Amino acid sequence: APHTKPSIVPAQCLPMQGKLLKLKEMFISKFGSAPKFYARAPGRVNLIGEHIDYCGYAVLPMAIEQDILIAAEPVKTQIVHLANTNPMYRDFSTSTNNIQINQTKPLWHNYFLCGLKGIQEHFSLISPTGMNCLLDGTIPPSSGLSSSSALVCCAGLVTLTANGKTLSKVELAEVCTKSERYIGTQGGGMDQSISFLAEKGTAKLIEFNPLRATDVRLPSGVTFVIANSCVEMNKAATSHYNIRVMECRLATKLLAKSKGLGWRAMLKLQDVQSNLGVSLEEMLTIAEEIFHPEPYSIEEICKCLGISLEELRTQILSQNTQDVTTFKLYQRALHVYSEAARVLEFRQICTEAPNNAIQRLGDLMNQSHASCSNMYECSCPALDQLVDICLKSGAVGSRLTGAGWGGCAVSVVPTEKLKSFLANVEEAYYKTNGQRLAPEKNSLFATKPGDGALVFLEGESM
Ligand code: GLA
Repeated sequence: APHTKPSIVPAQCLPMQGKLLKLKEMFISKFGSAPKFYARAPGRVNLIGEHIDYCGYAVLPMAIEQDILIAAEPVKTQIVHLANTNPMYRDFSTSTNNIQINQTKPLWHNYFLCGLKGIQEHFSLISPTGMNCLLDGTIPPSSGLSSSSALVCCAGLVTLTANGKTLSKVELAEVCTKSERYIGTQGGGMDQSISFLAEKGTAKLIEFNPLRATDVRLPSGVTFVIANSCVEMNKAATSHYNIRVMECRLATKLLAKSKGLGWRAMLKLQDVQSNLGVSLEEMLTIAEEIFHPEPYSIEEICKCLGISLEELRTQILSQNTQDVTTFKLYQRALHVYSEAARVLEFRQICTEAPNNAIQRLGDLMNQSHASCSNMYECSCPALDQLVDICLKSGAVGSRLTGAGWGGCAVSVVPTEKLKSFLANVEEAYYKTNGQRLAPEKNSLFATKPGDGALVFLEGESM
């Protein structure tokens, strides 16, 4: 139900007792007192529907077991002290009255501050409580499994709980989607939504505007396997991601203008489809007719829209797309409309579970990867190679997952072939390059749909 709140459970009911105990001990040695509660928010793997959430289209992710876990204690001062169990990530303190989020250097604590600031602003908190927080993360960073959004979501949930407020899962997802933009990326909301709305045992179709999640039961006999290319990509530190968001926005405006729609108010490719009242297939034909495959210069874009360069720069282009001189509109629009159709087909196959379900899901994932790689240009050579190896190792389908330009591939593998698949991929991708197995050896693993974000109370003390 959309109005449900994240569960609050007593900490002693958890399967992860050992982990909590260790975190509690570290917390006590760091801050000199015990945590009052814990919050966790999972990472995710997107099965299909890449780079379409910010265009208004439904996506199909599931939560993974790997998560961000934070032990927290509200304190009387207005200071937030942040510490991380991983010594690579430095301690950080700030006053809650003066939250500064550094976009040029997206260090770990800046993601925490996004979640904190989101809750503060949502409730217009004048004097939010200070906190001691110790964070433990198991999601490999910059790998397309949404470690950054899990951190923003977990920080949002911690801040909410520490300030004695409540929100529904949907509201939390919306607040955290908005607040992650303080880091500078124009994300579409998939990651935050699945982190809060996930349920064990089922993938979810996430639809936007209004935000909702529907169960998608995966067919029996298949296993989804995540393989990390070990090429790191940080969305906030590069401009690739925001350029794609802008290309889709410009494509929206040009399509709308050429169809005589009020293009100034339109931001998403889905807006054009709903205004025209046509199918995704028809949108593909329209986009093919209207756009040319050659990149558009900013001058040509201005000419098509009938505006000045000045207006384009100040009214449409975002801060980090100001210096881009050409945009690919044909390729990006075709990717988005075709990918949106693949998501709906994927869901339908899961619902109907025909005999050849695995093969058909695999085909869709392969088409998705080809489109991401060729039309959206969000893959990279190592990731293309990994997808190839996965297919040769027994996967029926394989594709990049998350933003891309590095990070992970997700493969659909018949469960009876899982063992040989893992051995083959290990041999062909990882053993050929020692650096790829390091550091935590968590580069290749089978995964099942996990649970969404939760708060656990320590004893009876809250
Ligand atoms: C990142 C963003 C999401 C989504 C994906 C690409 O994970 O945070 O909103 O756009 O990239 O599908």
